[in-house]
Amino acid sequence: MKYQAPKGVKEYLPPSSALFERVREALITPARLANYQLMELAIFEETEVFTRGVGESTDVVSKEMYTFTDRADRSLTLRPEGTAGVMRAVIESGMDRGSLPVKVFYSGPFFRAERPQAGRYRQFYQVGIEAIGSDDPFLDVEVIAIAQQGFTSLGLSKFELVINSLGDSESRNAYRLALSEFLATIDLDSATRERASINPLRVLDDKRPEMIEALKSAPVILDFLNESSERDFRIVQDGLRALGIKFSVNPRLVRGLDYYTKTTFEFIHPLLGAQSGIGGGGRYDGLMASLGGAPLSGIGFGIGVDRVIMACEAEAVTLTPEVPLSCFIIPLGGEFEEDALRLASRLRVNGIRCDLAYGDRSLKGAMKAADKSGARYAFVIGEREIQGQMVEVKEMGTGMVIPVKLSDLLEFFSKGNRALS
Ligand code: HAM
Repeated sequence: MKYQAPKGVKEYLPPSSALFERVREALITPARLANYQLMELAIFEETEVFTRGVGESTDVVSKEMYTFTDRADRSLTLRPEGTAGVMRAVIESGMDRGSLPVKVFYSGPFFRAERPQAGRYRQFYQVGIEAIGSDDPFLDVEVIAIAQQGFTSLGLSKFELVINSLGDSESRNAYRLALSEFLATIDLDSATRERASINPLRVLDDKRPEMIEALKSAPVILDFLNESSERDFRIVQDGLRALGIKFSVNPRLVRGLDYYTKTTFEFIHPLLGAQSGIGGGGRYDGLMASLGGAPLSGIGFGIGVDRVIMACEAEAVTLTPEVPLSCFIIPLGGEFEEDALRLASRLRVNGIRCDLAYGDRSLKGAMKAADKSGARYAFVIGEREIQGQMVEVKEMGTGMVIPVKLSDLLEFFSKGNRALS
């Protein structure tokens, strides 16, 4: 029997896993530099964290959750997104009563029972950040700038930023009323009408062409922003301009989760086809209170690591691993394995990436393995080398052979320096 990974599960195996690590690190680094700290969270939560947090009218909750009962009959769900879990953890740990804003980042797998296709998986990976406990719109600018910095540090340039404001609760209530009135005048199927009765804004996220057409003359939220929401939105836009971040405003942008208020945004990559959203987020005023915490506002984003990798491929950016393999050591027979491993350990503790040939292979087979490993250098260690305390280091790319004393090996690899011979 040959087993397969479950349908729609995205896995990363060598060598492409190096790219995955590189992209994930690039997305996390700007968050660390802005003083966001790691949260390593539960992969499954009580189902209510998501039904209350993300919203019952969303596709994510109503159609896409992996929900199961545990042995004590509790309903648990594999996390479809990260924000609700962060809120739960912040409330549970009392961080909301400490110094604010709480600034955290996370990365890991998320699960949605979607129809799999290129860029849309049932297990996918996000890097996310959340800044909780301040409604300062400059924090919105910071969060967007961090995402932007992650993309540009990878060499991406073709992505686009789209922003909108969903307003505070007063603005949104006025808008909901107007939108519901409008929706009452058009023909909706029963599922959509049901959805509109829970949250009319959800209907704006309908991607069916006939719905896009029918909604063309729907009122837009930006016409309903009260003074303070409008002011905040202006500050966000001015702040983005001040940082040189290009964006466009789309007054019809509503995201797929119910908790958003005020600033919402999405990064789109036009070369990715149907699944073009490489990241998105926004502010959430009522989320923490809805999960039983203090009424603190927060803002954050989730970036799809899988899609960013696709974007890197689409833009043909070349990414090298953080620490390339420097050297490959070949012991001439089992009796020299210990010497080889000792040398390798000395190089490794000094930060030099190296590997060695295991198993009693022929020299030819071991040289092949060295070649395949992608190491920059290789050398053999046997009787002659131990006797002479000297190895012949071969530069794999050119075939050039450089004699190096064993006592100079560390220096040689630290500097990658041929002149040392
Ligand atoms: P989201 O827009 O649902 O937001 O997901 C964020 C990103 O995750 C998307 O832009 C996309 O790149 C990626 N993504 C989502 N679903 C899939 C999938 N099935 N396959 C591959 N990639 C996918 C959130 O999850 C919010 N928690 C973001 C946030 C944080 N808002 C505030 N704070």
